[in-house]
Amino acid sequence: MLSSAPSQSAPEPSVRALNLTKRFGARTSVDQLNLSIYPGELYALLGDNGAGKTTTISMLTTLLAPTSGEFFICGFSGLKQPENIKGCFGAVSQDLALYQELTPYENLKFLANLYGLAKAEGEARIEKLLGRAGLIDRLNDRTHSLSGGMLRRLAIACAMINEPKVLFMDEPTVGLDPASRRLIWATLKELKSAGVTILLTTHYLEEAELLADRIGIIRDGKLTAEGTVSELARRIKGMRGISIKLAQDFAVDSAQLATSLAFVKEKFDVEIRLDELRNTIYLSQPEGDSEHYHREIFDWLQSEKIPFVKFATGEPNLEEVFLAVSKDLKSEQPV
Ligand SMILES: Nc1ncnc2c1ncn2[C@@H]1O[C@H](COP(=O)(O)OP(=O)(O)OP(=O)(O)O)[C@@H](O)[C@H]1O
Ligand SMILES: [Mg+2]
Repeated sequence: MLSSAPSQSAPEPSVRALNLTKRFGARTSVDQLNLSIYPGELYALLGDNGAGKTTTISMLTTLLAPTSGEFFICGFSGLKQPENIKGCFGAVSQDLALYQELTPYENLKFLANLYGLAKAEGEARIEKLLGRAGLIDRLNDRTHSLSGGMLRRLAIACAMINEPKVLFMDEPTVGLDPASRRLIWATLKELKSAGVTILLTTHYLEEAELLADRIGIIRDGKLTAEGTVSELARRIKGMRGISIKLAQDFAVDSAQLATSLAFVKEKFDVEIRLDELRNTIYLSQPEGDSEHYHREIFDWLQSEKIPFVKFATGEPNLEEVFLAVSKDLKSEQPV
């Protein structure tokens, strides 16, 4: 697996999982997961449906007992000191645990009382959180009458009532429209700049790329890659180079292209990958003068009369990285 270890002088992680494992009968949903998230970091756990994201968060938030392994939140052991860790984190679950019959104000008030906040302090926090969630004008409506985006923002507000140092969020923007997603992103950025450590799960690469300091990719319960966006991109061998999106009427698996690509592979000694879904060819970057190489490939496309709609050079984006490390490589045809 790829991993990025922070320097030795790094502080104590706010969230730490050590060989964290969850089995349901014969199925291993989370498999020896090791994770360290540092104070003030926003860490995005990316994975397909069923990869083990919710199970991981459920264990870290003490909703689910691990089968084996350990975890620590703000230095407290999740197994030995569960009462200590409960005060350190807030969580927004995938199914948003809100009291639908109460108003947004009452949901927050209920939690403020539960945490034993003094009246004045509770009111001040509620006002601040409702303001940040953009819900001041809805504070007395029934929660079930709020839109999906509003519910999500209310759930974040609820998770922040005890001003936790760590926030866990399971797919905070799934199913939201672009404007609502941006509002959530703004809230997350604000919390991050206030020093909150955030672990979020997402399917959206764009979201991870935009918000995260580091990204972990989980697949079949295992962390298959970890790093900053640019670190991941750099480490994916053979992905730097050229991508050529072919015109619609010319498929990546055409016989003409196969012969022609075999010639390119031999001449430049490069890796070639075909993505049928995107009708795109990826060519790796050989040693030496990249400008000359780009020009030669461009000339080759024209001399072979291969129609294309996009010719791009540079680093792979996160989506390509994600595909390369998290999808079954059998679905791509090596040349
Ligand atoms: N209570 C349970 N009993 C049995 N199997 C479970 C249970 N909870 C989760 N699983 C299984 O564990 C695996 C991981 O599920 P999990 O909900 O963690 O995935 P996820 O990454 O959150 O997926 P999604 O993106 O769909 O939310 C799945 O195969 C799921 O069926
Ligand atoms: Mg889930």
